[in-house]
Amino acid sequence: MKLNIALLAGDGIGPEVIDQAVKVCNVVAEKYGHDINWRPALTGAAAIDAVGDPYPEDTHKICETSDAVLFGAIGHPKYDNDPSAKVRPEQGLLRMRQKLGLFANVRPTFTFPSLIDKSPLKRERIEGTDLVFLRELTGGIYFGKRGREDDGETAYDTCTYTRAEIKRLAQKGFEMAQKRSKRLCCVDKANVLESSRLWRETVQAMEKDYPEVTVSYEFVDAVAMRLVQWPSEYDVLITENLFGDILTDEASVISGSMGLMPSASIGERIALYEPIHGSYPQAAGKDIANPLATVLSAAMLFDGFDLSEEAEAIRKVVNKSLAEGIVTEDLAEGGKSYKTSEVGNWLAANIQ
Ligand code: IPM
Ligand code: MG
Repeated sequence: MKLNIALLAGDGIGPEVIDQAVKVCNVVAEKYGHDINWRPALTGAAAIDAVGDPYPEDTHKICETSDAVLFGAIGHPKYDNDPSAKVRPEQGLLRMRQKLGLFANVRPTFTFPSLIDKSPLKRERIEGTDLVFLRELTGGIYFGKRGREDDGETAYDTCTYTRAEIKRLAQKGFEMAQKRSKRLCCVDKANVLESSRLWRETVQAMEKDYPEVTVSYEFVDAVAMRLVQWPSEYDVLITENLFGDILTDEASVISGSMGLMPSASIGERIALYEPIHGSYPQAAGKDIANPLATVLSAAMLFDGFDLSEEAEAIRKVVNKSLAEGIVTEDLAEGGKSYKTSEVGNWLAANIQ
């Protein structure tokens, strides 16, 4: 298969972890007879520095005309503590999600047998955890009307959803649940929010089309609690943008390190794959960041083209590296650790 992949390394550790994923993908492509054309493009603070825009039109054109996007991370501390900054790296990410129509963010949480004791949660609580969040990504409070009142003392952000937006996300959730354990949890705050009541009403109306899927409705505060009590009870969870942002960070630490969890953002046509961690600026350029979340995101990319053998080959070699202790310092617990690039080289050399 010939694949054009837009490569958006971004900021902080983005370029380092992306390099490892590219190495791994190139070996997989060679072994399985694919031809990947990587198309690098600027985004984030790096793009602001270069051209004054975190998601330049040139980058959008490259993404739009590619088969998929592989994304590193964006964000830079110089913007975090400056509420008056006019342009921010994060705006690039939001604009990209919107312009590419990436309305569903797929964020799995699973445990690795060899890492189970690295989790902040007890083994008996997390064993068997294999859940996936489908976070709505182009609506809600992230994109609603926001502003300041004239008095300058009052600010507001609004959460708006249309039935159509909820439906297309929920449909992906039902379809995913059908392929998995057939349990779907709709996470909302319908005891307080009108937008949540529309979510619940819309999902309830869809239940009859998926008779084999069991749907539960839970409030977001309760899910935040149950997620660390009994994560293994969940299968597919669907939720709105902000709830999903918060809960998926919470869910990501269950596996033991935030440096492990991949994600996919899907839409009508193009999909984007990225690690769920941020740009980790403290580690940038030091060759110490964990590249596995990005490498596993590349596995999801192959899945996205129904190349499941290729995806499985990547997951296998990642598991092997964990089992054999070929890990970066976040997972080494004072034992021998490897550099980001060494882990990448090892993975590339050990793919079966
Ligand atoms: C994420 C991030 C982004 C979000 C930020 C960087 C805008 O936290 O992808 O979860 O809030 O969506
Ligand atoms: Mg987030």
